[in-house]
Amino acid sequence: MERELAIEFVRVTEAAAIASAKWMGRGDKESADQAAVDAMRKMFDTVDIDGQVVIGEGEIDEAPMLYIGEEIGTADGEVPKVDIAVDPLEGTTIIAQGRPNALSVLAVAQRGNLLHAPDMYMNKIAVGPQAAGVIDINLTVEENIELVAKVMGKPAREVTVVILDKPRHRKVGGLMEQVRGTRAKIKLISDGDVAAALATALNDTGVDLMMGIGGAPEGVLAACGLKCLGGDMQARLVPQCEEEIERARKMGLEDVEAALRLEDLAAGDDIIFSATGVTDGELLKGVRFEANQVRTHSLAMRSKTGTVRFVEAVHNLEKKKLSF
Ligand code: FBP
Repeated sequence: MERELAIEFVRVTEAAAIASAKWMGRGDKESADQAAVDAMRKMFDTVDIDGQVVIGEGEIDEAPMLYIGEEIGTADGEVPKVDIAVDPLEGTTIIAQGRPNALSVLAVAQRGNLLHAPDMYMNKIAVGPQAAGVIDINLTVEENIELVAKVMGKPAREVTVVILDKPRHRKVGGLMEQVRGTRAKIKLISDGDVAAALATALNDTGVDLMMGIGGAPEGVLAACGLKCLGGDMQARLVPQCEEEIERARKMGLEDVEAALRLEDLAAGDDIIFSATGVTDGELLKGVRFEANQVRTHSLAMRSKTGTVRFVEAVHNLEKKKLSF
């Protein structure tokens, strides 16, 4: 993919972030999500790609836009054939409640290179570049933490693990108890495990690992981001019923509970990732509405070169009327 596409994709996540940020703190996650979807879909139409949504808003019967299988982009002439993963608003509850760390996010890879992950739960372990190659989803939580501590040259009690604060992780003998057993520190987040996974690979976040069960679509997006950042991730789908197993099979996953390596989640070395902050977070500042302008903060990355760009944009509302 041409590198110029990276900035085109930033425009797409900027549009979704601005549209959904208008719903910040209004207690209406559906409208916030819809605004992000509409804006993202509209902006995609201006990008010269022959894209197909593989991670989106759901199946065709559940989502009128950005559904799995939808064709995206101008598809004019010699344009790249790509897989697209989107989460127009990652953190719908976050924005409704005015909390930090909501993002608009997308990733694009060569056609066939992204896992077609159904909308179900996925167990994930993610680390930054220092611990890339040492994690193994088949090992225990304790073993993984010990391995990460060792390669990072510090005791397990100095390792920080970020975990979604959900009942499934608080169970007796569950993830939190297992992590506590190693004396590692736990940082709990209410939502938004894409940002948490990326935080393991960025400096100054103080986070070493992300562990636990979250959404599978978010898992693929996080894997794309970590690929660009040189981090690592492994995962396993956690179907909750027969119907989910069937859905996964239909999407081409024969062994539904197989261990998924980074390369299974996001293959190849030509991935572009873009995220724009919706509410303020550790990674990115949120959308700022100012007198006659809107300010956005985005992260644009390419796995091919490993360049990580932080893009601050000021959208002039006098010259450019926002249609979303
Ligand atoms: P939404 O944007 O769909 O609300 O997802 C937010 C999120 O926290 C994800 O980051 C995470 O992967 C997933 O929800 C966890 O699901 P659940 O809220 O069911 O525990």
